[in-house]
Amino acid sequence: MFERPDTGERAVLVHLEFSSDREREDPQEFNELVRSAGVEPMTLVKGSRSHPSPRYFVGEGKLDEIRQAVELYDADVVLFNHSLSPSQERNIEAALECRVIDRTGVILDIFAQRARTHEGKLQVELAQLEHMSTRLIRGWTHLERQKGGIGMRGPGETQLETDRRLLRVRIKSINKRLDKVRKQRDQGRRARVRADVPTLSLVGYTNAGKSTLFNHITESGVYVADQLFATLDPTLRRMELPDVGRVILIDTVGFIRHLPHKLVESFRATLEETCSANLLLHVIDCHDENRLDNIEQVDLVLEEIGANEVPVLHVYNKLDLLDDREPRVDRDEDGKPIRVWVSAVTGAGMELLFDAVSELLAEEIVHERVLLDNQSGRVRALFYEAGAVLTETFDDAGRACLEIRLQRHDFSQLLRKADINENELIFQGDTLDFDESVH
Ligand code: GTP
Repeated sequence: MFERPDTGERAVLVHLEFSSDREREDPQEFNELVRSAGVEPMTLVKGSRSHPSPRYFVGEGKLDEIRQAVELYDADVVLFNHSLSPSQERNIEAALECRVIDRTGVILDIFAQRARTHEGKLQVELAQLEHMSTRLIRGWTHLERQKGGIGMRGPGETQLETDRRLLRVRIKSINKRLDKVRKQRDQGRRARVRADVPTLSLVGYTNAGKSTLFNHITESGVYVADQLFATLDPTLRRMELPDVGRVILIDTVGFIRHLPHKLVESFRATLEETCSANLLLHVIDCHDENRLDNIEQVDLVLEEIGANEVPVLHVYNKLDLLDDREPRVDRDEDGKPIRVWVSAVTGAGMELLFDAVSELLAEEIVHERVLLDNQSGRVRALFYEAGAVLTETFDDAGRACLEIRLQRHDFSQLLRKADINENELIFQGDTLDFDESVH
């Protein structure tokens, strides 16, 4: 009666509601998470309780219901939309004679499949090993081990059968390797800051279309080869974009509601790239009815990693799924772009997106000619110290005319340091066009 899909396993999903729950998970979202892990959700067993049972998390009656569902659908695995303690996981597995994975395990599995950078892979492996180390005693002997199944994918899979001692050795060795990549990455970031190429970072809720947009943008632009990125990182591209000029584009990991804390910790370092970006492109699935809530979740993570001060442009993606498919830019009362409606699949709205990015980046860059009188030696020294001076000429009176180019926040900081006001500087001529500044 039930066709077995060629790929993927069959899962029974379990979702309970507790009267005390403040942060309620969404069963529909869990369904999607499970699908994106490549697993076929066969049915959802729902229930409600006042609080979890210590032994099986669910009550005995519900456990029976799950057992029947496992038999009926010939399921390979039971997935809980909750965090289970190692002993609960073990008890349920023994009772059901079926593999059991909790929400954290499912999310770790998705991250394992999606991690693209060397560092990302190491981080997921570490999180998987740590998640596993508390669960090792469960004993897999009563269950047929299905290599490559959910919760067993990713770099951590070969470690499943090792004992705790080996696991500790492995964790130590990964930490060492991570330290090494982090050092390399920090050096790369410092070099980028010096190169003063604006950085755009794509952030967004999982499934919003970040990677699709990243690919579309990189195809629209010209890839600029650079020794700085000799280590090929697929999530980082130095590009020359139409109307924008040179930028560095960074793709980041998708955010998920109630990310396991360990994972936020381990990804913090990668996400720090986001904090030093000049502009965040927050990609939003405009067709998703939970979009407002998702935006809030992403904002919370941004706040947690300290990136909430970086300017943001909302990219409302998947416009092709709406009735009104006209690409457009929404602006705030000052006329600043705040939202662009695009489709990463059809490419609609890309030009508007590039225009908006260019507009916002131009605001972030100060590119001017300033005339310094003879009293302004300190300001001149500070501009030089910041590496902001492009050219220097002198007028007949011997005054220095500097062409400067630097980030707006560095400019403000420099003025504060010099203890002068912006309007005390003598600007020469119109603000220079941002495009001219590509050199
Ligand atoms: P994570 O890796 O989970 O963070 O996801 P992501 O944000 O990188 O999303 P991804 O680019 O993988 O896209 C998720 C799904 O949305 C894929 O099935 C895409 O084909 C689809 N998608 C992305 N952009 C569009 C779009 O503009 N229109 C439509 N219809 N689908 C899109």
